[in-house]
Amino acid sequence: MKVAVLYGGVSREREVSLRGGKRVFEALKKLGYEATLIDVNWDFLKNAWKLKGFDVIFPMLHGAFGEDGTVQGILEYLGVPYVGSGVQESAICFDKLRSYQILSGTVSIPKYRVIHKPTSESPFGFPCFIKPRREGSSIGAHICHDPDELLRYSERELQSYSELLLMEYLKGRELTISVVDVDGRIVVLPILELRPSKEFYDYEAKYTAGMTEFILPAPLDKSLEKIVIETTLTAYRSLGCQSFARIDGILKDGIFYVLEANSIPGMTETSDLPASARAGGYSFDELVEVILRSASLKIPRL
Ligand SMILES: Nc1ncnc2c1ncn2[C@@H]1O[C@H](COP(=O)(O)OP(=O)(O)O)[C@@H](O)[C@H]1O
Ligand SMILES: [Mg+2]
Repeated sequence: MKVAVLYGGVSREREVSLRGGKRVFEALKKLGYEATLIDVNWDFLKNAWKLKGFDVIFPMLHGAFGEDGTVQGILEYLGVPYVGSGVQESAICFDKLRSYQILSGTVSIPKYRVIHKPTSESPFGFPCFIKPRREGSSIGAHICHDPDELLRYSERELQSYSELLLMEYLKGRELTISVVDVDGRIVVLPILELRPSKEFYDYEAKYTAGMTEFILPAPLDKSLEKIVIETTLTAYRSLGCQSFARIDGILKDGIFYVLEANSIPGMTETSDLPASARAGGYSFDELVEVILRSASLKIPRL
């Protein structure tokens, strides 16, 4: 079976994708697949037709032009099965505003506003939180402790992004829950609690070994565990996730607030999904194989 791993990409999460993609590629080779690594750079379209020669595509891309439905659209057009969510679902998960609009009313989410202009005013008091509408890996995300910080960070980030979410800052326990489709069965892996040594789970805390303590499984009493798992499954299903995904959230006062859904979770050596999988009894290689088996095309050919 010929498998192409798409990695790299052109987003600000390129480095993360290079790290994770290489690991997935190595696992596939170890498993005996005929694997090829393909860097999805700006020349990708010139060679995209060659993907027709593969049996399955494994996009290990994060961020814009990779996790947001664009590459998935090319794969649908080519007619090659791929792992992960479809075009529309990927686009929705990557867009935190659209995700919140779909999730509100079904699960708890933080209070938020969309801002297009720098501001020093927070309707949610201080500290508040800002993050780009479409980004990942905590890039462009900041805690703002006072009006000056909010003004400074909103000014800075609006140079790169046209829209930011200004949110209430939820101080609670940070949890992330990985979901994998194991041969048609949706499996929720052990809940991972993150205790970053930074003020929040920022880029450095995510990708520097030793900067975040993983508590796995998260110590939760049965009723809280049930709430977290049910919320995760509701979010996964409401957003239409397929194949695999990871839901990030904050547990505060007995309520699990969903922060976002990741349609292509990181697979680096410090990433959350491989850690949860290991705690759930799947080695990295087994995880890759399970994900591979979930590959499909999502747009029917008439
Ligand atoms: N409203 C919020 N309150 C407190 N912390 C937040 C809030 N939103 C995000 N965070 C922190 O920022 C991190 C990144 O936010 P998230 O929504 O998961 O976006 P992404 O991981 O795509 O950058 C979270 O893991 C969490 O530590
Ligand atoms: Mg996140």
